[in-house]
Amino acid sequence: MSEAQANIGVVGMAVMGSNLARNLASREGNTVAIFNRSTEKAHAVAEAHPEAGFIVADTMQSFADSLAKPRTAIIMVKAGGPTDAVINQLVEVFEPGDIIVDGGNALFTDTIRREAAVRETGIHFVGAGISGGEEGALNGPSIMPGGTEESYKTLGPILSSIAAVAEGEPCVTHVGTDGAGHFVKMIHNGIEYADMQLIAEAYDLLRNVAGLSVEEIADVFTEWNKGELESYLIEITAEVLRQKDADTGKPLVDVILDAAGSKGTGVWTVQTALGLGVPVSGIAEAVFARAVSSKPAQRAAATDLPGPSSVAAIEDKAAFIEDVRQALYASKIIAYSQGFDAIIEGAKEYNWDIKKGEVARIWRAGCIIRAQFLNRITEAYAADPDLVLLVAAPYFKDAVTKAEGAWRRVAIKAIESGIPSPAFSSSLAYYDGVRADRLPAALVQGQRDFFGAHTYKRIDKEGTFHTQWSGDRTEITAEDTH
Ligand code: 6PG
Repeated sequence: MSEAQANIGVVGMAVMGSNLARNLASREGNTVAIFNRSTEKAHAVAEAHPEAGFIVADTMQSFADSLAKPRTAIIMVKAGGPTDAVINQLVEVFEPGDIIVDGGNALFTDTIRREAAVRETGIHFVGAGISGGEEGALNGPSIMPGGTEESYKTLGPILSSIAAVAEGEPCVTHVGTDGAGHFVKMIHNGIEYADMQLIAEAYDLLRNVAGLSVEEIADVFTEWNKGELESYLIEITAEVLRQKDADTGKPLVDVILDAAGSKGTGVWTVQTALGLGVPVSGIAEAVFARAVSSKPAQRAAATDLPGPSSVAAIEDKAAFIEDVRQALYASKIIAYSQGFDAIIEGAKEYNWDIKKGEVARIWRAGCIIRAQFLNRITEAYAADPDLVLLVAAPYFKDAVTKAEGAWRRVAIKAIESGIPSPAFSSSLAYYDGVRADRLPAALVQGQRDFFGAHTYKRIDKEGTFHTQWSGDRTEITAEDTH
């Protein structure tokens, strides 16, 4: 048995795992043990990065033996079956008090299940959302751990040492118990989908309504990145647009097939939000837009369907570009407002004490949705931790008040031009829905009561009512609600 010498281990040496292991090894005081199912890969990583001083384990047992107690191991393998397989192997060789961390993009309900099962053995199980892609894993991701308070005592300092730093603070916090970390990471990805779709719609409008070239649009995004839209996704959008295809010399974006892929976290966000009854319409439209793009047979069948013969006329190009910027900002605020709504409802449902301001704080650096305006979200929840609707907080109310006219003008131009802008339009529809004095939901209630005696409530009296619709229209207090 080899002597225990590592304070942390990583299982899974694909790109994310090896980069995270290198990040850990680069921080003072850490010695990192690594293990991979095919051991050659772990040895290759260690050979390629001698500076990391990795301890390579060839078996799960020697991996466990190489770790100081309490042992801490981070699993970085594919979500689903492979994660379960590694957890089972680790449970075999770990002891009560040791900590298993799943750093993959696990479905939070799987994390809840795994945490409960592993807890039976006395071993801690922590589902930790890790965002930032390959580069973040290597240089500093945003980390969203769940699990017990107790495990966070050991884990917190290690994770803080490798996390991204925003304004002097590491982008990690104990999000909540069991699956809370993966839940929040899932919502992060949902917001990421919405943000990306909104940016894509803005690009489409700038290109096809304003008639800008790809290079000009790249410049617009670079300019926008200096203001309230400043964010990683806006920054990389400019870079993506500037990239030329080596084969054709065309903008690369023009030779990339327009069929967006996905690994499933956006779908999970929407499915979960539907279950919680939270309208995450911007995120849902982003998921659906990827689905529409990825159906070549349907798109081919629809090419002859009619649309406007030309795009809407733009009188003042600069003014339109500014309108698009404002529409993007307002819609982005809605995406975050809806995402935080899902966090509030998820926390209620699963009994998590999630500090929304802390979540925004740890998203300021390292992660894909990192953005300047996350500070404003932290401030909004600091001013009112029980804020029911983010977009109604003073700063955001002010922002959408300024943007509202532009937002409507952009949605109208898109519709007139036949350019799909589902995320812009649905964000605006949500905004108008949530701010309405009175909604046609009253009519829906009437219809439900008509065909199904589902009952309704009144604005002027307490109680539950049902109308004899075809009879004398008397209202009665319903005894049984269907
Ligand atoms: C992150 C990313 C990361 C990954 C997504 C991409 O936070 O680092 O969100 O988790 O890039 O899974 O998701 P899609 O493939 O579904 O777009």
